[in-house]
Order: sequence, then C-alpha cells, then structure tokens
Amino acid sequence: MILTLSLGVWSAQGLEMSTGKVPFLEALNGSTVILPCTYASCIGIKNLYFNWQYNDNGTMQKVCESVIPLDGMDPHPVSIYRERVDFIGTGDHNNISILLWNITFEDEGQYTCFGRNPKEKGKNHSAIFTLVVVDELRVVDNTLTIIIASAVGGAIALLMTFMLVKNFILFVLFKIEEKKKIECLVQSSSADETNNVSGSKTSKPTTPKKK
Ligand SMILES: *[C@@H]1O[C@H](CO)[C@@H](O)[C@H](O)[C@H]1NC(C)=O
Ligand SMILES: *[C@@H]1O[C@H](CO)[C@@H](O)[C@H](O)[C@H]1NC(C)=O
Ligand SMILES: *[C@@H]1O[C@H](CO)[C@@H](O)[C@H](O)[C@H]1NC(C)=O
Ligand SMILES: *[C@@H]1O[C@H](CO)[C@@H](O)[C@H](O)[C@H]1NC(C)=O
Ligand SMILES: *[C@@H]1O[C@H](CO)[C@@H](O)[C@H](O)[C@H]1NC(C)=O
Repeated sequence: MILTLSLGVWSAQGLEMSTGKVPFLEALNGSTVILPCTYASCIGIKNLYFNWQYNDNGTMQKVCESVIPLDGMDPHPVSIYRERVDFIGTGDHNNISILLWNITFEDEGQYTCFGRNPKEKGKNHSAIFTLVVVDELRVVDNTLTIIIASAVGGAIALLMTFMLVKNFILFVLFKIEEKKKIECLVQSSSADETNNVSGSKTSKPTTPKKK
C-alpha cells in the first residue's frame, strides 16, 4: 500500500503519457476518429520527443513524431509517416492527439503514444490506445452490457439485503441478550433482596436501570 503510494507520487513527478480514461474506441469503417494523448510532467519539459506508433502484428511502425521545445509550445514540424493521419495536438493543453481519416479495417489495432523528456535522462514513457473497426455498431454489445450491469447490480442488492438482514438479526439477538441480562440482574437482585431482608436494600433495585 505504502509502496504503491510512494511509487505513484514518485512517478507523478516525471513525465506521464495518457490516452484518456477509456483508452479504447470502437468505430465504423470509413469514419474519422481521434486518437487522444496528452502528456504531463511536474518537473517541466525541454525538447520533449514524442511519437505515435502502430503495432503492426508485432513490429512497431512510426505514425508520426516530433519534438516540443518547451511547455505550452506547439511541436514544429511534425513528421507524418502514415496515410490519412493528421496531427491535431495543441501546445497549450499538452495535447498530442492525432486524427485518423476514413479508417479501414487495416487501421485496427494498438497505437502507442510515446514520450521521452531529456530532463529525465532518456526515460521512456508510453500509453496505449486500442482502435477496433467494425462494419456496423453492434447492438449485441449493449444487451451484454445491460446483462452484466444488472447482474452486478443484482449482486450488490443481494449483498446489501444480506447485510441488512444480518445486522437486523444481530440487533435482535443483542436485544434478546440484553433483555436476558436485565432479567437476570433483576432476578439476582431480587434474590439478593430476599436474602438480605434484614440488611440494607436501599440501592440494589436501581442497578439494572443504570445499565
Ligand atoms: C466498410 O467496409 C466494407 C468492406 O470493406 C465496404 O463494403 C463498406 O462500404 C465500408 N463501409 C463504409 C461506411 O465505408
Ligand atoms: C502476424 O503474425 C503471425 C504470427 O506471428 C503470422 O502467422 C501472421 O501471418 C502475421 N500476419 C500478418 C498480416 O503479418
Ligand atoms: C476521406 O473520405 C472522403 C469521402 O470519401 C474524401 O473526400 C476525403 O478526401 C478523404 N480524406 C482523406 C484524408 O483521405
Ligand atoms: C486534444 O485536441 C483535440 C483537437 O483540438 C480535441 O478534440 C481533444 O478533445 C483534445 N484532447 C484533450 C484531452 O484535451
Ligand atoms: C527508450 O526507447 C528507445 C527507443 O525509442 C530505446 O532505444 C531505449 O533503449 C529505451 N530506453 C529505456 C531506458 O528503456
């Protein structure tokens, strides 16, 4: 726990590449898509080298590459090595996204957004974005999602009901125990009373009420 926390803090100081919270896109063939990527660095950047690579069945093909001189500046110029690709990043948002025009089924696969900040002595950072090209957006996926969601929801509801019932039973048991204890106390104190009829019986009956 502490290790992961300190690792997280430690890595947050260096460069970080991000392809978004959902690094995955399913798109129709023929459509135009954005492959998002941003960078962040606590120590600042200087001549940040970045590229996009396409994993073509194991071999990495460079899609584009460039260098960003300083934070907030646009990379210039951006070299592009693949058809139907445009660089659409903007310096003021640390945005190095690219646009893929008129995608085909050959465009499907993993795209790696790679960055290296010379301030970090050649440390490599990257994030992967996965593009899936489909002929028509499937409806089956939705029903599957709904089934999974309702199953998860049902499980959670079941768990909550179980917890509620368990707590209720525990509560009832506790109450019964308490009642028994009080009854027991009352009994024992009354027994005490009968035993020491002649003795002091002033404070005894109030003891159970205090509990
Ligand atoms: C998708 O691809 C198929 C086969 O390659 C093609 O016939 C179809 O026209 C394409 N659809 C679009 C919208 O480009
Ligand atoms: C991808 O790789 C597999 C095994 O590594 C090979 O059998 C297949 O032919 C390759 N496909 C292409 C399109 O290169
Ligand atoms: C994408 O397709 C449209 C229509 O088919 C075409 O006009 C346009 O030039 C294509 N864009 C690129 C970058 O290939
Ligand atoms: C990056 O820039 C493009 C084009 O301006 C925009 O569509 C996209 O939302 C931006 N992404 C982020 C994460 O800011
Ligand atoms: C970083 O990536 C480059 C290729 O772009 C490679 O040559 C180098 O060995 C990598 N460095 C580390 C530390 O992994």
